Amino acid sequence: MKTLGRRGFGAAIAVAAVLGGALVASAQGGPHPRGAAAVDTARQLAADREPGTWMSAARTLDEQRFSPLTGIDRSNIGGLGLAWYGDIDSERGQEATPVVVDGVLYVTTAWSMLKAFDARTGEKLWEYDPRVDRAVGQIACCDVVNRGVAAWKGRIYLGVLDGRLIALDARTGKVAWSVMTVDPAKPYTVTGVPRIINGKVIIGNGGAEYNARGYVTAYDAATGRQIWRFYTVPGDPSKGFETPELARAAKTWTGEWWKLGGGGTVWDGMAYDVESRLLYIGVGNGTPWNQKFRSPGGGDNLFLTSIVALNPETGTYVWHYQMTNGETWDHTATQPIMVATIPWKGRPRRVVMEAPKNGFFYVLDARTGKLLSAEKFAPVNWAERIDLKTGRPVENPVARYERTGKPAIVSPGPLGAHNWHPWSYSPRTGLVYLPVTENNAGYDSVTEFRINARAYNTAVNAAAAAPLYNAPGAPARGTVKSYLQAWNPATQKEVWRVPNATFGASGVLATASDIVFSGNHDGEFVAYDARTGARLWSSPTQAKVVAAPSTYTIDGVQYVAILVGARGLPGEQARTSPVSANNSRILVYRLGGTARLPAEKVGPDSTISSTLNPPLLTGTNEQVIDGSASYARVCSGCHGANAVADKSIPDLRYSTTLHNWLEWEDIVVRGVRAQKGMASFRDILTPGESETIFHYLISQANKDKATEQAARRP
Ligand code: HEC
Repeated sequence: MKTLGRRGFGAAIAVAAVLGGALVASAQGGPHPRGAAAVDTARQLAADREPGTWMSAARTLDEQRFSPLTGIDRSNIGGLGLAWYGDIDSERGQEATPVVVDGVLYVTTAWSMLKAFDARTGEKLWEYDPRVDRAVGQIACCDVVNRGVAAWKGRIYLGVLDGRLIALDARTGKVAWSVMTVDPAKPYTVTGVPRIINGKVIIGNGGAEYNARGYVTAYDAATGRQIWRFYTVPGDPSKGFETPELARAAKTWTGEWWKLGGGGTVWDGMAYDVESRLLYIGVGNGTPWNQKFRSPGGGDNLFLTSIVALNPETGTYVWHYQMTNGETWDHTATQPIMVATIPWKGRPRRVVMEAPKNGFFYVLDARTGKLLSAEKFAPVNWAERIDLKTGRPVENPVARYERTGKPAIVSPGPLGAHNWHPWSYSPRTGLVYLPVTENNAGYDSVTEFRINARAYNTAVNAAAAAPLYNAPGAPARGTVKSYLQAWNPATQKEVWRVPNATFGASGVLATASDIVFSGNHDGEFVAYDARTGARLWSSPTQAKVVAAPSTYTIDGVQYVAILVGARGLPGEQARTSPVSANNSRILVYRLGGTARLPAEKVGPDSTISSTLNPPLLTGTNEQVIDGSASYARVCSGCHGANAVADKSIPDLRYSTTLHNWLEWEDIVVRGVRAQKGMASFRDILTPGESETIFHYLISQANKDKATEQAARRP
């Protein structure tokens, strides 16, 4: 029933032998003691023979995130209740999928902290805090998140925000080895899940908004020794290229891109196909976003926004497919990737699928990378369509603001029509379940650009495009709507969608009893009918949900686990709590579960007010304009574009420090909140910049307050 079928499964075992992985007899679903984390190649390949184990973040190497379990079904789901919960000691974004193997649930939280729970009782067995220097938060574009761990032969593997990769004893949490996967002097961060293929731990990194050159590295799981490294963009030509592919890729770049890093970080999507024996990596955006400053003469800029297929044994290039050629809108292609056998023109076909930020749903041949189809799954205006003959987009020239010299509203914007939020494929329904966000963004070229490794380098002036939203026929600004979408990849058509009441995406899990589980931004965990989208069940989470669920069995009982927390506050959204008291927890459900959450926490002591209440503006017009540019460059990555918070980080328009210049300076310049993730910006801001930002925020807060009041008037 599941992906491989009988024949495929035999082939998979043959692959295991070819890979040289130890085919341990005990791996065939036999019992392992609690905490053994006894994962090896044979057990990975036979994952469907022990459906009660959630062996890696996406469960299987093909990353379909489908569970063959049927204990919870549409007839009994009304009896699903909380079995246990565990509190999380961080209120930043929580993006991890729990991994459950040999009776233990492993989950990571913000700041790369890791907890191990008894998967049945919720008893905390151990925890590990890698003690990330909170100043690293300054170079984490999109919150200090972590998406989960890998398990292998008695160890748990953790990627750490500051670039470390750590192997821990699965029973005790003791460090077995730790390696630095990045140059700590450079602005790299690690938030992604380590993948383990035949004893090699493969890890990417982030940092393309700063000054990074993307790569993935494979380490020996036993020792931490580096085995290979694959760079996604060419480096300095005078130093020679690491591989022939990079020499070829360099021909698609112009100017002195290497001084900017180039970007192309692989911060999330990867998958492995046991049939073609290829590792697929999803490559991110360019540094800076605006191509004019990155590669002034244009060009495709390989391998930005591509899926690259590699030989996982050696890290050598096999093929690539680029999604947004010469990207200039932050259209990363490091969104989740999955491999599946789907019906294609009347026959089963092994394909790689990705629905990246740029709004097209791509289906590629898994072995060759040939484009089979690409269709819009959300509103897209940067390209009309993808030409199947050339594999290239037919672009809308107006969208290329850096060429036209004119601002443009482009959809999707940097949030993506689909971002990192995990999706799921059910081989039973043949549908992919996908969290979609419809959005657009304004882009205009800045006139001058200098790279600053500790600031947000987009070379995009979004504010200059703002007036376009007032034009007749202009789209609604920014984040428009979001929904859970069921998509048929064989026909490239939507089958159903469930709109979200509150904007925002949440990860997805589909099961063999035709149930789809996903959270939402109203603080609910919900089960839907996989065939119709009908709502079957829900439970309050006391927090927004962005992460994806996983499901497992202990002693024959099925459990569903979800990590909750992450308070995003896009534009129009109601502020349910002033700051990020987001009640982060791991919640685990089972039929007949009777645990109860404690009374909802209110916001911690903070200087954030629940209403807009700024002082009068005393700064000059020039200060406000300068402050707007400085804010966009240095602060917006965390505190949100146009001063509107969109993550679990305070909305500065609501800060009472706007009434207290000295307190403001203490925070922004002297770093008194460094331990809470707000390090000093003394070395990044030029003299006077802290003050112009202060005035800009007061100005924005007053404007937004006036708009609010106008809206309230009858
Ligand atoms: C790397 C992410 C990041 C960046 C970039 C950043 N901040 Fe922050 N900031 C934070 C976090 C996290 C907090 C919440 C700290 C806490 O819990 O007290 C915060 C809090 C603050 C506060 C206190 C708000 C309040 O009243 O509680 C001020 C003021 C502030 N930041 C100003 C700035 C300014 C100005 C910039 C740009 C120069 C900036 N921040 C850039 C992460 C960031």
